[in-house]
Amino acid sequence: MSKRTEAKRILEELHTYLDIEIQQGRRMVSLDPAVVQSFLTRKTVSLPKPAPAAVPSKRAVPVAKSESVPVAAGAAALAERASGSPVEQAEKTVSARVAGAQSLEEIAAAVCTCGACHLAKTRQKAVPGVGNGASPDILFVGEAPGADEDKQGEPFVGRAGQLLTKMIAAMGYTREQVFIANIIKCRPPENRTPTPDEMTVCLPYLKQQISLIRPKTIIALGATACKGLLGQGVTISSIRGIWQQFGGIPLMPTFHPAYLLRVPSAKAAAWEDLKKVLSKLGRPVPAPTKKQV
Ligand code: URA
Repeated sequence: MSKRTEAKRILEELHTYLDIEIQQGRRMVSLDPAVVQSFLTRKTVSLPKPAPAAVPSKRAVPVAKSESVPVAAGAAALAERASGSPVEQAEKTVSARVAGAQSLEEIAAAVCTCGACHLAKTRQKAVPGVGNGASPDILFVGEAPGADEDKQGEPFVGRAGQLLTKMIAAMGYTREQVFIANIIKCRPPENRTPTPDEMTVCLPYLKQQISLIRPKTIIALGATACKGLLGQGVTISSIRGIWQQFGGIPLMPTFHPAYLLRVPSAKAAAWEDLKKVLSKLGRPVPAPTKKQV
């Protein structure tokens, strides 16, 4: 890749990153002039280590004390000079771990060695995500790994995953042609819903994946995916089937496959949502196979 193309790619990543930050309500990031320079030269920039929080938050996610912060070039340096609650610090730690990642493999390595929150202690395997990372038509975003995913290190491989695979096939794709990820990368004990703090801490991984993958559309599966990407205030019932956007990428909220297993009568509405995505992508609606009918 030429220096110019590389610089353009890095700036596009920065643009997507900032779009996402703005959408999530952040109004300021501090950029050191040396950092800006690093985007062009790709030199490593050292940032000061996060200062300890002055006032501990009541909603703290326990933060691993020995966490080291490998600060790489480029977007990594966007991590703000840290102060604030333990949750904010843990989020910044994760941002710094992943922001300079240049490939999905680097992000996966950061996810699999992450100890930023307490879920690291109970997971068997972290689940970074799988699929086509080169601007696929669709990125599916779920909630969190369950027991099967935790064992295998791959998202959506249990019962809900089998239904998702069928939904993907009904749209005319294979799992390998799309990308599949979750809002949080480690299984919450007993498959409970991830807390807002856990989502906040883990989200930089998904954001950086989205910056690199550059999917043409995102399908947010269920309430947790919608809250994680669009804000805790949204409800799936009010936005399902209505186009949203995330970092400038069209996002379709629909039901989670686990919900569809519990409430099969909702499948027809979910299929309408998936057809809207096909239409946005200019893809025909495949004729249903006997198996799908
Ligand atoms: N449910 C999810 O949301 N994600 C998975 O990976 C599996 C089940």
